[in-house]
This record gives sequence, structure tokens and C-alpha cells, in this order.
Amino acid sequence: MRATVDRAGLDPQGRLPKVQVRRVRKGDLGKVRDVLEQTFGDFLERQLGTRPRQAFGGAQYVHHRWLMEPWGCFVAEEDGAKIVGAALAVTLGSVGLLGPVAVLTNYQNQTIGQQLVRAAQEFFDENRATLHGVVTYPTSPKHLYLYHKFGYKPKSLTAITSRAIDRGTLRSPAAKPGKLQLTTRRFSTLEETKKKAALARMHRISNAVCRGLDLAKEVEIVDGLALGDTLLLERGRDLLGFAICHTPGVSEAPAGALYVKFLAIDPAQRRPEHLVEFVAGVEALGAEFGVQRVILPVYSRYWVAYSMLIQCGYQIDFTMVRMQRGKQEDYEDPTHLVLDDWR
Ligand SMILES: CC(C)(COP(=O)(O)OP(=O)(O)OC[C@H]1O[C@@H](n2cnc3c(N)ncnc32)[C@H](O)[C@@H]1OP(=O)(O)O)[C@@H](O)C(=O)NCCC(=O)NCCS
Repeated sequence: MRATVDRAGLDPQGRLPKVQVRRVRKGDLGKVRDVLEQTFGDFLERQLGTRPRQAFGGAQYVHHRWLMEPWGCFVAEEDGAKIVGAALAVTLGSVGLLGPVAVLTNYQNQTIGQQLVRAAQEFFDENRATLHGVVTYPTSPKHLYLYHKFGYKPKSLTAITSRAIDRGTLRSPAAKPGKLQLTTRRFSTLEETKKKAALARMHRISNAVCRGLDLAKEVEIVDGLALGDTLLLERGRDLLGFAICHTPGVSEAPAGALYVKFLAIDPAQRRPEHLVEFVAGVEALGAEFGVQRVILPVYSRYWVAYSMLIQCGYQIDFTMVRMQRGKQEDYEDPTHLVLDDWR
């Protein structure tokens, strides 16, 4: 007689188990990380034909995200005992970003993913996020369907680009005689009393890119946990731009790479050469941290920024599609010099 093999996700009587969505607690963090790694490992294996050794190449998403936004982190738990899914969400001022979302492979297609997305939606609504966004796999009908069900519309592609750096390939900014030079400074080197004012100046820039967008939480968590640093682009006393950089360890940077989570140049100062110079500054920061690559994500609606990166020798490693819902859905100006990917 054949032994009964329990199908994961069904109890021995073949009934659907009770799955509840609740907020992440401190004791869940390791498990949530495992669920993300395992689920994305399975997904990528199906896509690529081979299983990557690490689904995210060593990038971490859970611990610092939870510290930054504990109310936005959710798990799906089976029978109060087993974590079978997770969703992380964050509000950056008026912008709510969803992801990663994962449901263990054997538990998929039982509406758990939708329960997690719904919890994140409620969190966005409670926090009055007026624009909600997610990035996902453009070739997956399931993903497009799932987010469409919640009102997200597919927009344009985000390109995750990268470039190898070594001392020989570092670009040095060209000095222009008689002009006040652009300089870069690390946020972590500011006196504590100056950091607040710097955050307010960064908010002015992000607000000019998208009304209400505020990256203060990200800058502070990167600073507080030493996940990397935020590079400030200055001319004299003026702040022209900022770049939140993650470096390998326990951040969202994969091993061996500096990853720019968000970069913006003040729209009032949006000259492409400022972006080129700032990218050179980011590469120099990467060299200081001893990484071999710089990863710069760019949304293709920011067409000037996208084109500049390609001109600067950045290659596209992969693409995702951005999906959005809510007010200001078409806020992007193609001439804004912004790098971000919403992962
Ligand atoms: C994406 C993911 C979180 C969804 O979780 P899930 O629990 O399987 O999702 P649900 O069961 O709640 O919903 C799936 C929906 O897609 C539908 N669906 C499944 N396959 C589909 C397909 N090929 N085409 C269209 N719709 C499809 C299902 O019918 C269901 O909709 P319905 O309830 O209206 O019938 C899960 O598949 C996952 O973890 N994938 C791997 C990691 C990943 O890609 N994460 C998201 C990154 S953005």
C-alpha cells in the first residue's frame, strides 16, 4: 500500500490549513529571511534552469527593513506555528513601496500572497501613502495578474545596471578653472547636530522629484546600522544631490558590490554632467569600501539618467517592471536625474 504523503499546505485530512497574516516579531526575523531565500531560490531556479547559490547574491532585506518600518512587515503563519510567507512594505513619506513578497512554493496559489498584499495595502492606507508601488517580473503573467487585482498598473521597465571598477577605470572629475567645484561628502562624517539639517535639505530635493517623497528613514537606517553611507554632492554650501549607498555585509548590496538604493540631483540643478560627476564620486566611494562593482538601478522613464548610465559604460544586468497605483501615478519627469529601483 502506498504511504500517504502529506501535500505541504494541506493537513492530513486534505483540508486547507489555517493561515493567518500578522506583523513580524523580532523572533521571526531569521525565519522570514529563510522564507525569502528559499522562495526566490525556487522561483529563479524555474526561470534560469539552475539554482543560484544565494537567491539575492548575499543581499539582505529583512533585519534592517524591520528595524526601519516594523509596522510594514508581515508574515503568513500556518496554524500559529510555521511561517509560510512574508511581505515587507515601507512608506517613504507619501510613497508606499511593497516588496519583497514571498510565499513558500508549496503554499502558493492558495490566496496567501493576496492576504499579504492586502495587509500591506492597509498599512499604506493607515499611513496615508498616496502613491503605491512595486517592481516585479515583466514576463510573469501571474505577477502582473496579482498586482493588477489590487489596482497596480504596469508602467515602464527598471534596469538594474552595473559596472566593474578598479583603480584604472575610476573617472576623475574634470576641474573647471574659476568655477566653484563640485565636491562629495559622506553623511556619516557630519556632526550629529548637522545631520538633521542635511536630512531637511535632502527632503527638499526628493519632494521636488515627487511630492511628499521623503528618504529620511533610509538615510538614517544606513547611517545608524552602518549599512553603507549617503554621499552628498555639494557646491560650496549648496546641496546638489544625494546618493544612499549600501555596501556588502548586512545591507541590500550583494557581495562585492556597492548598491545605490536611491540617488537624486536637485531638479533645479539637473545638468547631465552633474550626474556623471556624481556617479564618479559613487565609484570612488565604492573603491574606498573595497568593492569590485557598482550597481546603479534606473527607471527607464528617467530617460536622461538612463541614457547617461549607458554612456558611462553601465551594462544592464536585468530588468523589472514598475507597477503603480494611486495619485500622482505619472509623476516622473524624463529629465529628472534620479536613480532608484523600488526593490
Ligand atoms: C508572487 C507570489 C507572492 C504570489 O503568492 P500566491 O500565494 O501564490 O498568490 P495567490 O494565491 O494569493 O494569488 C495568485 C493569483 O494569481 C493567479 N495565477 C496563478 N498563475 C497565473 C497565471 N499563470 N496567469 C494568471 N494568473 C495566475 C491565481 O489564480 C491567483 O488569482 P485568483 O485568486 O484571482 O484566482 C508567489 O508566487 C511567490 O512567492 N513567488 C516567488 C517570489 C516572487 O516572485 N515574489 C514576488 C516578487 S514581486
